[in-house]
Amino acid sequence: MNTGAVIVAAGSGKRMGGERNKLWLPLAGKPIFCHTIELFVSHPMIAETVLVVSEADRADITDLIELNGYRNIKLVPGGAERQESVQNGLAALSASCEYVLVHDAARPFLTTAQLTAVVEQVQQDQATILAVPVKDTIKIVGDDGYVESTPARESLWAVQTPQAFRLALLQDVHKQAKDAGKAGTDDAMLVEWMGHRVSVMMGSYENIKITTPDDLWLGEEILRKRLGSDRG
Ligand code: CTP
Ligand code: MG
Repeated sequence: MNTGAVIVAAGSGKRMGGERNKLWLPLAGKPIFCHTIELFVSHPMIAETVLVVSEADRADITDLIELNGYRNIKLVPGGAERQESVQNGLAALSASCEYVLVHDAARPFLTTAQLTAVVEQVQQDQATILAVPVKDTIKIVGDDGYVESTPARESLWAVQTPQAFRLALLQDVHKQAKDAGKAGTDDAMLVEWMGHRVSVMMGSYENIKITTPDDLWLGEEILRKRLGSDRG
């Protein structure tokens, strides 16, 4: 019962505003890429890892993998949208994978324990995602700039990755979405559209996605805190 991972890394990091993919930016002295890859390639429950990268990054990533001796990792080209990048990744997994975890390379603070918990949960639920309860009140705002409504905060969760699925299920819903021209902002949305239940696991507020420059100092603090608690 193998589990594979698809790490999507083929974005360009527009909101970060740098000259190249934000995933090359350093955190605690090494590229964000390394933090995320290391978690997956060193995890005993992950049989294979597919890293989806843009053409612009391919040569440097190949060097990075060789330099660091990362094993069991396959590179595949990304698409124009994240959904396409995930599709390319899924197509590259071996048929021996029964389950797949889809993860944003831009979330380098996932822990080994969370990864283990997701791998175990997906075997029960077939579709499961990490999420955290939102802390802010969320408003639906119209194009006119006025509040339309206020959903009850108790039922609002901010979703994260990894999102894990039975591989055949995720491949099927991605194909259906592609054929129907449907775009979802996460993988679970495609599974929900096709009428499947998705379970929600408690994630961590530290499992942030590095998106804008502010996230970099926050990320450094998260790593500093972890290093401190390892020593303590
Ligand atoms: N991603 C991808 N292929 C795309 C777009 C995004 O593989 N066509 C990946 C990103 O590399 C990232 C993850 O999906 O790891 C989440 O996307 P996001 O945080 O939005 O990253 P970017 O798309 O790179 O950033 P931006 O939207 O600011 O350009
Ligand atoms: Mg994006």
